[in-house]
Amino acid sequence: MTTSSSDIVLTNITQIFRGASVRSVGGEFKAVDNVSFTLSADPPGIVSLVGQSGSGKSTIARIILGLQKPTEGSVTYRGKDIYKLSAREYDAYRQEIQPVFQDPYGIFNPFYRVDRVFWTVIKKFKLARNRQQALAKIEESLHAVDLRPEDVLNRYPHQLSGGQRQRVMLARVHLLQPKFIIADEPISMLDAAVRVLFLNILIDFQQKYGMTTLFITHDLSTAYYVGGKILVMSKGEIVERGDIDDVLVHPTHPYTQMLLSSIPIPDPDARWQDKTSLVDIEGAMPIVALPDMEVPR
Ligand SMILES: Nc1ncnc2c1ncn2[C@@H]1O[C@H](COP(=O)(O)OP(=O)(O)OP(=O)(O)O)[C@@H](O)[C@H]1O
Ligand SMILES: [Mg+2]
Repeated sequence: MTTSSSDIVLTNITQIFRGASVRSVGGEFKAVDNVSFTLSADPPGIVSLVGQSGSGKSTIARIILGLQKPTEGSVTYRGKDIYKLSAREYDAYRQEIQPVFQDPYGIFNPFYRVDRVFWTVIKKFKLARNRQQALAKIEESLHAVDLRPEDVLNRYPHQLSGGQRQRVMLARVHLLQPKFIIADEPISMLDAAVRVLFLNILIDFQQKYGMTTLFITHDLSTAYYVGGKILVMSKGEIVERGDIDDVLVHPTHPYTQMLLSSIPIPDPDARWQDKTSLVDIEGAMPIVALPDMEVPR
């Protein structure tokens, strides 16, 4: 496979955890085992990283974000190992790659209004020349995620719904226009209708703004919904990879087959036609009707 310099390339990443807190033979635990893959910037795409709890997904997310230096292997961006960047180069990298986590409370300070999330990044990354331009950008970003400024600005985080908070996170991402989004279980705390909204925004970000997303989930059906490529992880290893339509129709690894057997086999023609319509979500019932993902009536 060819890679361009603005791809994020993981090569032979292994993460071993050691210490008293690690319950395993010799006090060592291999959370990620020789994982290699590339997140391509051009063309942009969505890559779903799917695996059960404890398979190493979040560890990989942290390694890509520069938060956890792997025991072995490298992550390169623009040809440079991200763990060997200067502070300035790392800041530039962190502007190009933005996280979206399950619980967005982490980035909200409960004592400040939601607006502060935006003003902080505008200042830090010098995104506007003056207050008026900044306000215009904030409004544009809120509209991009289907939020009305009057519904969220001037409010405190706890005054928003979980879905609104997650979309504020995405508006922040929109403001920054990164090349990559690392979304670690971003929708597992949301209800079904809001999940679909969120996924549609990720798809929009790819198609309209050229952002590539690593979408981490333990749920095959949402991975199928966003399309693109899939990496299936089991016990720290990537056991299967490919275009999601191929992998779900012809899974080769027993673990993928096991995951698939727990949901109805998807019909590739049954993907939502109009992604914005809730009526079509019902049309796609077979793939989303999982126990933890009830479809609204
Ligand atoms: N700092 C750490 N020290 C010791 N063990 C760790 C540490 N971080 C993660 N682990 C272990 O590594 C394994 C992988 O964890 P990770 O959080 O990457 O899994 P995950 O696939 O994201 O799971 P989940 O779906 O539950 O979020 C787990 O067994 C976890 O307990
Ligand atoms: Mg995790």
